[in-house]
Amino acid sequence: MNERKKIAINTGGGDAPGLNAVIYAVTMAAERRGWEVYGIHTGYAGLLDTDEITRLTPEKVAGIVSLGGTILGTTNKGDPFHMPVKNAVGDVEFRDVSAKILTNFKRLGLDVLIAVGGDGSLRLADRFAQMGMPVIGVPKTIDNDLASTMITFGFDTAVTTSTEAIDKLHSTASAHERVMVVELMGRCAGWIALNSGISGSADVILIPEIPFKIDSVCSKIMENELHGKRYGIVVVAEGATTEGGEVIHKGREEGRQEVVLGGMGEWVGREISKRTGKDTRTLVLGHLQRGGSPTTFDRLLALRFGAAAVRFIAEGKRNVMVANHPPNMVPVPIQEAVERMKSVPTDSDSILTARDMGISFGDE
Ligand code: F6P
Repeated sequence: MNERKKIAINTGGGDAPGLNAVIYAVTMAAERRGWEVYGIHTGYAGLLDTDEITRLTPEKVAGIVSLGGTILGTTNKGDPFHMPVKNAVGDVEFRDVSAKILTNFKRLGLDVLIAVGGDGSLRLADRFAQMGMPVIGVPKTIDNDLASTMITFGFDTAVTTSTEAIDKLHSTASAHERVMVVELMGRCAGWIALNSGISGSADVILIPEIPFKIDSVCSKIMENELHGKRYGIVVVAEGATTEGGEVIHKGREEGRQEVVLGGMGEWVGREISKRTGKDTRTLVLGHLQRGGSPTTFDRLLALRFGAAAVRFIAEGKRNVMVANHPPNMVPVPIQEAVERMKSVPTDSDSILTARDMGISFGDE
């Protein structure tokens, strides 16, 4: 089972702190077994143009564990089953280039692809697995919305950055007696907003899982005012939904399946100002949540995910995702992992804790 192998690794979708730690762990664990590791650049694009492949060695990956981003590059527009390609006259056409990718994978003599990604990238990995490319998935996303794993790497760093931002907003909000609204990422899940909102002592947290009434948000701000607290911190997940089901987004980008979310923070801020008369400012934290060094927690988690991926290959496992089931890493079928999203349970201990802290979700 432990014969010399040639394994490949790619990183797909939005970057998340910890990607380089996974690449490091895979390279080191494979080297220890005498295997070769190849880094595929920019998602699957590197398997189309095979000049975009790097042999990864311990020397190549030295010092990358603490770095944000990914040395392999990534994209959230690189669906090989619907790839934007320029035709002879320069217009963009969508083509299915999956067969060519599979052919190149086999021609290079690669045994397994370790696909590091979120739900979108893992869905692609699953499709390649069904076509005959052996894959192992590693769950990445700051959103923490992947089912089957307790946690994804990148999430802790995003929450830490968001909490620090909220902490800093307290002093300026208090000095000016303002309401500060901060919009955070997370797509259709409220994990980042919830965890950083509680840790940063927000007054209101709006998440997609609990539709909100703007009147209820304003009541909380005014109630604070009556108790002598003349400023407020409102944390809004980008996917937060009004009771009427409205979500605010910026439309669809070419080559991407999902809409680009954003704008709910601005709307909430405007409504608070209009309805309460309070001076209100809005901050969109945006990609700062994905930037910088991974926290110690994310580094360790990412290293464990990478090492487990190589162990699973050595054990003969294929077409599974490495899942964190504390205290262990376990294999789960990729299909099962991408079947459903992991939302915040509305009766979870964190929600109950927030309510006990007097934090409003805009629903009461
Ligand atoms: O999935 C990670 C994520 O950061 C989401 O939280 C956010 O909605 C999206 O990616 C932003 O994508 P982009 O990098 O294309 O702006």
